[in-house]
Amino acid sequence: MKSAAGSPSRKSALIARLQKHRSVIGVVGLGYVGLPLVLRFVEQGFRVIGFDIDPTKIRLLQSGRSYIKHIDSARLRQARGKGFEATADFARSRTADALIICVPTPLDAHREPDMRFVLDTIDALTPHLRKGQVVSLESTTYPGTTDEELAPRIASRGLRIGRDIFLVFSPEREDPGNTRFSTQTIPKICGGMTPACLDVGVCLYSQIIDRVVPVSSTRVAEMTKLLENIHRAVNIGLVNEMKIVADRMGIDIHEVIRAAATKPFGFVPYQPGPGLGGHCIPIDPFYLTWKAREYGVHTRFIELAGEVNSGMPEWVVGKLAEALNARQRAVRGSRVLVLGLAYKKDVDDPRESPSVRLLELLRERGAKVSYSDPFFPVFPQMREHVFALRSQPCTPRVVARYDAVLIATNHSAFDYAMLRKHARLIVDTRGVYPERFPNIVPA
Ligand SMILES: NC(=O)c1ccc[n+]([C@@H]2O[C@H](COP(=O)([O-])OP(=O)(O)OC[C@H]3O[C@@H](n4cnc5c(N)ncnc54)[C@H](O)[C@@H]3O)[C@@H](O)[C@H]2O)c1
Repeated sequence: MKSAAGSPSRKSALIARLQKHRSVIGVVGLGYVGLPLVLRFVEQGFRVIGFDIDPTKIRLLQSGRSYIKHIDSARLRQARGKGFEATADFARSRTADALIICVPTPLDAHREPDMRFVLDTIDALTPHLRKGQVVSLESTTYPGTTDEELAPRIASRGLRIGRDIFLVFSPEREDPGNTRFSTQTIPKICGGMTPACLDVGVCLYSQIIDRVVPVSSTRVAEMTKLLENIHRAVNIGLVNEMKIVADRMGIDIHEVIRAAATKPFGFVPYQPGPGLGGHCIPIDPFYLTWKAREYGVHTRFIELAGEVNSGMPEWVVGKLAEALNARQRAVRGSRVLVLGLAYKKDVDDPRESPSVRLLELLRERGAKVSYSDPFFPVFPQMREHVFALRSQPCTPRVVARYDAVLIATNHSAFDYAMLRKHARLIVDTRGVYPERFPNIVPA
């Protein structure tokens, strides 16, 4: 096929290479999102090069070791055996037919989008871009990022989008720890800058994913991901508010949710907790809030959910203080063991975890805090939080030494029957105990 410019169509050539699994795939950012993608492409017979700026990760991956609990090192060793390499040498991106960007999109100190990682990545890649490549951004971001930030940088190299190079946005839908779905079986949204970009993007992902869902633009794809995460943030905010009301009324919110969930239509159960955690739900909604301001729109639901959710650790600490008070004890001087540092059950990810906020609030109030989490033998290094703590074993003897045990994350590894028997007081933020016991306070 000839393109309008008279040269063989780059789009058809690229699509043919992708379909034959002869193309080289470059994944930029080898974290929770990038690494599963690498493995999936390798397992489908593609040659994959992984790019990252973290030398420790590159070293570990090169020696076939995983740094993510739910990703088995054996799979990585196999990937290495099939030619996967990790590198910090961005010049090698020239050899890739597809470049998939999975770098962090956090908030800055003013809770505004911190686009540093995305922009640094595109700036590092741009000098090496060549005709006939597809570039896909997967990092969660505000609508307009791909066309306002990425496209002009790529075009500045004299590359025509949709002719020389194909640019898409395709958000990741990874759910760490969820064994029911895999990279292959989670449908994937894809939006292109032009119809040709979309065709190439859909072809790229169709090689490894059962169902690719095309949408009409990169902005629609960007907004879709935000809607999904905002939907969660708002509903978790709602259920957390319901928990506070139910608690005042002496009603068990978990029983209410279980009952409501028997409705076969129109109700989706969300679980309350000690606050929001993880890389996505506490952060992504504010990408939209920030961008909406440019259009003179105020995102009230997002702000309200943020307010309720970020207030939860304070509320939990209040419940713990009340329970200690009822036992003639003050928070100051009490020994409190926080169970679970990770933001969610059975994952080894502490990012934005409300457990850390709980530890901080308790320490500020004079409690002697400890934690137990099998995933973190030592308190992990964090930019804003410093605790010189090691994980305590969760045994009858240890548990009995504390004035209170606060269940922040309900890891399967904890023995909840043992805890009930040996802990003097348990503050349960996860609805672990459906029955009422004198030493258990729901919070
Ligand atoms: N973790 C999830 O469950 C999840 C789910 C859906 C979407 N996302 C989104 O995916 C994106 C990536 O998240 P993640 O959880 O994989 O993050 P992560 O921190 O686990 O991994 C990101 C990787 O990018 C690397 N990196 C940073 N700057 C770089 C640069 N300039 N060049 C190359 N590599 C660089 C980091 O060293 C790190 O290894 C974010 O936008 C996030 O919101 C995450």
